[in-house]
Amino acid sequence: MSDKKKRYLITSALPYVNTVKHLGNLVSSLLPADILARYLRQRGEEVLAVCGTDDHGTPAEVSALEAGIPVEEFVEIMHKKQKDIYERFGLSFDLFSRTHTPENIEMTQHLFLKLYKNGFIEEKEIQSLFCKNCQRNLPDRYVVGTCPNCKYEHARGDQCENCSKVLDGIDLINPICIICGKNNTEIRSGKHLFIDLRSLEGRIKEWIDSHQEWPKTTLSISNSWIRDGLRPRSISRDIKWGVPIPLDGYRDKVFYVWFDAPIGYISISKEWAKQQGDPNLWKKFWKETDTYIVNFIGKDNVPFHTITFPATLIGANDGFVLADYVKAFQWLNYEKTKFSSSKKIGVFTDTALELFPADFWRYYLMKIAPERHDTDFTWSEFRDSVNGDLADILGNFIHRTLTFVNRYFDGKIPKACSLEKEDKDMINALIDTSKKADAEMRKFEFQRTILTIFDFARECNRYFQTKKPWADWKDNKKDRVATTLNICAQCCRGLAVLLAPYIPFAAEKIFELLQLKEDVHKQPWNSVGKKISDNHNISKELVPLFQKIELEQIIKLGLEWGGESVKELIKQNPQLAPSEEVKKKAKPKKKKKKESKADEKMTKELIPFKDFQQLDLRVATIKSVEPIDGTKKLLKIIVDIGTEERQIVAGIAERYKPDELVGKQIVIVANLEPAKIRGVESNGMLLAAAADPEISILTPLRKVPNGSKVR
Ligand code: MF3
Ligand code: ZN
Repeated sequence: MSDKKKRYLITSALPYVNTVKHLGNLVSSLLPADILARYLRQRGEEVLAVCGTDDHGTPAEVSALEAGIPVEEFVEIMHKKQKDIYERFGLSFDLFSRTHTPENIEMTQHLFLKLYKNGFIEEKEIQSLFCKNCQRNLPDRYVVGTCPNCKYEHARGDQCENCSKVLDGIDLINPICIICGKNNTEIRSGKHLFIDLRSLEGRIKEWIDSHQEWPKTTLSISNSWIRDGLRPRSISRDIKWGVPIPLDGYRDKVFYVWFDAPIGYISISKEWAKQQGDPNLWKKFWKETDTYIVNFIGKDNVPFHTITFPATLIGANDGFVLADYVKAFQWLNYEKTKFSSSKKIGVFTDTALELFPADFWRYYLMKIAPERHDTDFTWSEFRDSVNGDLADILGNFIHRTLTFVNRYFDGKIPKACSLEKEDKDMINALIDTSKKADAEMRKFEFQRTILTIFDFARECNRYFQTKKPWADWKDNKKDRVATTLNICAQCCRGLAVLLAPYIPFAAEKIFELLQLKEDVHKQPWNSVGKKISDNHNISKELVPLFQKIELEQIIKLGLEWGGESVKELIKQNPQLAPSEEVKKKAKPKKKKKKESKADEKMTKELIPFKDFQQLDLRVATIKSVEPIDGTKKLLKIIVDIGTEERQIVAGIAERYKPDELVGKQIVIVANLEPAKIRGVESNGMLLAAAADPEISILTPLRKVPNGSKVR
C-alpha cells in the first residue's frame, strides 16, 4: 500500500443475488474488504467501501424460474435478505447496493457506447447451443457438461468450477440443458457483440507487469491469460434479464452479466455520492491517480478484474483509473469437501448468525483465510479457536484484569509505580505489535496480522500469570499490584484498538467495560501507547466477552451439517455420541433442496381421516392488518370468521403489504391453541404455501360466507 495516496476505494466482489452466500464467499471478499476499510478509517484515512448484489445474468433468472416468481421480485427479496445478513456480520460498507439500478444501467450503456465509438466492439456471427426440447437458446449458464480442459464432469457453460477455466457453452463435452435436464442440443448461429481484447492486450499486460507486488494467485491467473493470448470476448446475451444493449440490431439482447457487474462498483460509488448530497464526489475516487483502489475477490474472479474489466475502462478512454491492488483468495473448503451453494454443502451466512455471534465467525475465518493456498473449515477447529483464543486468551485476560481492578482498587485504574523490566517490556511489546501488525496489514496480510495480535494477547496472559497480582496483594505489595494492573489495563485498551477491524463488536464491548468514552473505531493503531488516566473508573458490572462453545453442541452441529472433524471428536468422547435415533435424523444436508422437499412428502406417514377432521379449517375475511413493531416478518391480522372476529399473527410481512390483504378471503386453522408471538396474542393460523423465499396465501376461488368449513 502506498503512503503517497490520498484516499482509498475498496471494492468487494459483488455477490450473485440468487442465493444466500456461504462462509467461503464471506472470507474471500466481503470480510477482508470490511476489515481493510475499518483499519483505514481508524487511521483517519478517506475511504469509500462499496459492495452490492450482482443482480443480472442467468443465475438470477434460473433461480427465479425455480422459485416461480418474476425475476424482478425475486431479486428484490434476495437482495434485501443478503443486505440484512451482511449488516448483522458488521460489514461496514459505505454503501451496499445492487447492479439493477438506473445508475448502473446508465453507466454500463455509457461505457459500452464509448467502447463502440473507439472501435473496440466487433460484431460477429456466433454459434451457441439451442435446446431442441425446450425450443430456446441456451446461454452459457443454462448448460452443464464435461470441461474440455480438466474433464471435470459438472462444469458450467461459462466457467469450470474445478479448474477455473473460462468456457463457452459450446466448448462443453456432452452439454446438458439445465431446464429440461436433457442432452438434446444443437449448435445454431446468431449475431453477437464482442469486446476486442486483442487490441487492448498490450496495455493490459503493461499494467499487470507493473504490479509484481500482487498476490501470486492474482499474478499467475492473469499471466496465464496473457500467455494464451487474448481473444475477443462476447458481451451480449440472448436473455431478457439484464442491461439492455443500446444499439440497433441488438435491442432485444442484454449485456453479459460480467460486463455490467464490475461497472457496478462505479455506479454504486455514484449512488453513494448522490446520497452524500454531492453527486460528483465519486469522481475523485475513480478518476484521480492519487486514489488507491483495492479489489477483493475469490480466485475465479481474477480474469474479470485483471483482464476484461480493465479492458472496458482502458478502451472506453473516459478517464477511469485502474485498480492498484487485486487481492485474490484461494478456496475455503468445508470439512475437506467443496462448499457448494447448489448442493447446499457447508455453512451459509444466515445459518451462521443464528448459531453464533458474528465475531466468532469473523475471527476464525480470518485466522484460516485462504490467502496463499486452500484452507479448510472444520467445526472442531472452529470451536478450538473460539474457546481457546477468544475466550481463554483474550476474554480471560480482559476479565481478570478488570475483576482485579474492581476487587483491589474499587474499580479505579491504579497509578503505576516504579516500572520493572517486565513492565517496560510489556508496553514495548504492545507498541511493537502495533507496528508489526500495521506493516502486515499494509501488505494485505490479513491472516498474519490477526496471528500477530493474538501472539500479543498470549503475551499479556503470560505477564499476568508471572506477575501474580493476587500473591503480591497477599504479601501486602500494593504498589506492585497497582503497577501490574495498570500495565494490564493499558494492554486491554491496546488489544481493543488493534482488534477493532477484526472483531468490532468485542472491541466495542471492551471499551464499554473500560468505560472509555471515545469511539474505538477512531483510535489509530499507532495510538495504542495512549494511556488510560490514573483513577479512571471502569465498569463494575463485568460480563464475560465470549461464551464458550460446548463440545456437545459442536458435535450436534457437525452431525447436522456434515463434518468429518466431528467423527474424531466422537471417537475421543464416546460418552457424547448421540443416540442412534438422533444420528438417523442427523444425516448431512447434502441433498438438493428440491429433492429434499420431495422426500418430505414421500416419507411422512399416512394419517387416518379422523386426524384430519380434528383440524377446524375455516374461511375468514381479513378486516385489518398492522405491522408488529420491532419485527420485520410479523403482521397482526384481524379476521372475521362469521361468528366472531379473531386476531392472528402471521410471518408474511416480507411478502405482503397490509393494504393488499384487507378484504381478501383466506383460510385459517380455527382451533389452534392460542399462542403469544413476540408478545402479541395469536388465535389461529392462516394457511399459505411456503415456497421459500415466496409465500403465497391460500384463498377460496369463489367468495363464500365467512366461517365456511374447509374440508
Ligand atoms: N457475482 C460474481 C461472483 O459471485 C462476482 C462479481 S464481481 C464484479 O462470483 F466485479 F463483477 F462485481
Ligand atoms: Zn432443454
